[in-house]
Amino acid sequence: MTIASTPSTGAQAPSRASLSPPFAPPFDPALIARMASALFGALPGEQARAPGVQAPVNLAPAGSPLVSPAGFGPGVPGTPIPQGQVPGTNLLPASPTPVLSLGHRAPSLLPHAQAGNGLPDTVVTQLPAYEPRFGSGVLGVPEASGASASEASRHPATGAASPFYFVSDSFGHPSAGGQPVNAPVADYFADTPSLPTSATTLSAAPAAPSTQAPAPAGVVSTEPKYYFVDSVVLPNGYVTPAKPAPHATVPAAGAGQHPPFDVNAIRRDFPILQERVNGRQIVWFDNAATTQKPQSVIDRLAHFYAHENSNIHRAAHELAARATDAYESAREKVRAFLNAPDVNEVIFVRGTTEAINLVAKSWGGQHVGEGDEIIVSHLEHHANIVPWQQLASSKGAKLRVIPVDDTGQVLLDEYAKLLNDRTKIVSVTQVSNALGTVVPVKQIVEMAHRAGAITLVDGAQSVSHMQVDVQDIGADFFVFSGHKVFGPTGIGALWGKRAVLEDMPPWQGGGNMIADVTFEKTVFQPIPNKFEAGTGNIADAVGLGAAIDYVTRIGIDNIGRYEHELLAYGMQQLGAIPGARLVGTAADKASVMSFVLAGYSTEDVGKALNEEGIAVRTGHHCAQPILRRMGLETTVRPSLAFYNTWEEVDRLVAVVRRLAVARSH
Ligand code: ALA
Repeated sequence: MTIASTPSTGAQAPSRASLSPPFAPPFDPALIARMASALFGALPGEQARAPGVQAPVNLAPAGSPLVSPAGFGPGVPGTPIPQGQVPGTNLLPASPTPVLSLGHRAPSLLPHAQAGNGLPDTVVTQLPAYEPRFGSGVLGVPEASGASASEASRHPATGAASPFYFVSDSFGHPSAGGQPVNAPVADYFADTPSLPTSATTLSAAPAAPSTQAPAPAGVVSTEPKYYFVDSVVLPNGYVTPAKPAPHATVPAAGAGQHPPFDVNAIRRDFPILQERVNGRQIVWFDNAATTQKPQSVIDRLAHFYAHENSNIHRAAHELAARATDAYESAREKVRAFLNAPDVNEVIFVRGTTEAINLVAKSWGGQHVGEGDEIIVSHLEHHANIVPWQQLASSKGAKLRVIPVDDTGQVLLDEYAKLLNDRTKIVSVTQVSNALGTVVPVKQIVEMAHRAGAITLVDGAQSVSHMQVDVQDIGADFFVFSGHKVFGPTGIGALWGKRAVLEDMPPWQGGGNMIADVTFEKTVFQPIPNKFEAGTGNIADAVGLGAAIDYVTRIGIDNIGRYEHELLAYGMQQLGAIPGARLVGTAADKASVMSFVLAGYSTEDVGKALNEEGIAVRTGHHCAQPILRRMGLETTVRPSLAFYNTWEEVDRLVAVVRRLAVARSH
């Protein structure tokens, strides 16, 4: 199977690296590749600002279909793409004119849209990449190809800084820091033994559907392979190609470096924090509901759709390889983030809710029977109550609840009394979303295991505030949502111990999780694919990977320390307001400062705060049992993240104090 042949001659196309005179075309194909990639990746309405790179001139003859809006640019309205021509297939070294004619789209070389919120673009997304420090500037670079520490120091923040956000040559972005723009394009497949380096040239014609017949049993074809899932021996003996190691299509930016904590630098990475609400700069104190996204995550998503978008694990073309690698490398980032032993133990799901439902339906469906018991704590979010309740009612099992004390901490002695040989699973949150209580999950897990139960820890509210080490916690499952940890919505992860996951049946059936299907029988892929039926949320998984990179570079311990001081200050200030009652005062807490104010409904307080641009959640926080335990139906819930400041806490406290004073007169 060859997709690299040049259609006009049928000859094997040379690899990009091997192009040299006299075979080289009369221009640099790498440059063309970079330009084409940037051009096709442009967002509508982007402004041109590309000093350092000569904007190519438009050589397209007037009236050429290649200036048509239907295909490539703002030309003659309605001019169609020539019949039978697929956009982009003319980007061949053998057809220079159409490629050069794309030069009129030089404005789109600016690789991201203006924020549109008054935030200086140059501050947030460009200059920082070259600042010789490891603060938010570097952090603001998309993990796609950000500067490493040493690169950053080689590119001081002077007028010499490149305007380009992407620093490396990857994916056709202009190179930075004075490097020649026609530097060789990185070979995405260089580290991928099973992928032919010569098959990646942009001179390739569109890939024809694979007609490759399965090799005889036990023999792996020597034909060039693209990307498939883990090597699997199908019933007919065909061995699917092994998954290549992630080949770093998008180099990580300085991963592992922990810069000193600089909240102002960090805030510049979050464009939305400059938003104005009711005339005031927004204060985002609704982090327990969802967190804001750094520019690097936003850019990573845009980069994915501009340069990598494809379905994964299947197809015989380069974008499938890029998308699959991006997705699988995000899985590896999740693994490292949780310190899980095995990347295949990480299942991508929509979020915490779906992860818990998966376990309840699959593991619970198999292992929980009549008279069995399921234990949760009184602190749980509805997502960690309802799936178990559904399971219990369908199986005739019982849901039992670990009580809490008046501060909102679980009572371990009472928990010990609940455990018995009918206990099948204990499922507890690590941090309460309504009160902020940090639950001693390690101890809870240990006690459950001693009773012969398995365990699930809900990390939705913990992963953004504290180091999580699933091996240290020891639970069988750990779940979290990407959007609570500065990643996109609609993506999250279930981690489970390999043996437990392997023993579980799939909970959904469909494509992507299949090794072989006949009408009689289906053979499933091994984990993780077994639990990822259908096309997943590929782009957002990649975005989650970027979020994890971001958090990791700041250092979760730095985050935890900073937030802890801020929380202590906020609790002390709020608690001192006459008529304010703090709800959830456990000694070990994270992020959440739930309270009620005498004389006001929680909704009124929320409205008053919103008028001052301060965002909090009011209501039951999807955790009605714990609020009722505290004698309440609702609270006001400011919740902190590491981009919040003392000044913001003061703004919150000032509004609440003003309300309190008004009511006391
Ligand atoms: N679980 C989210 C919250 O606590 C929605 O607000």
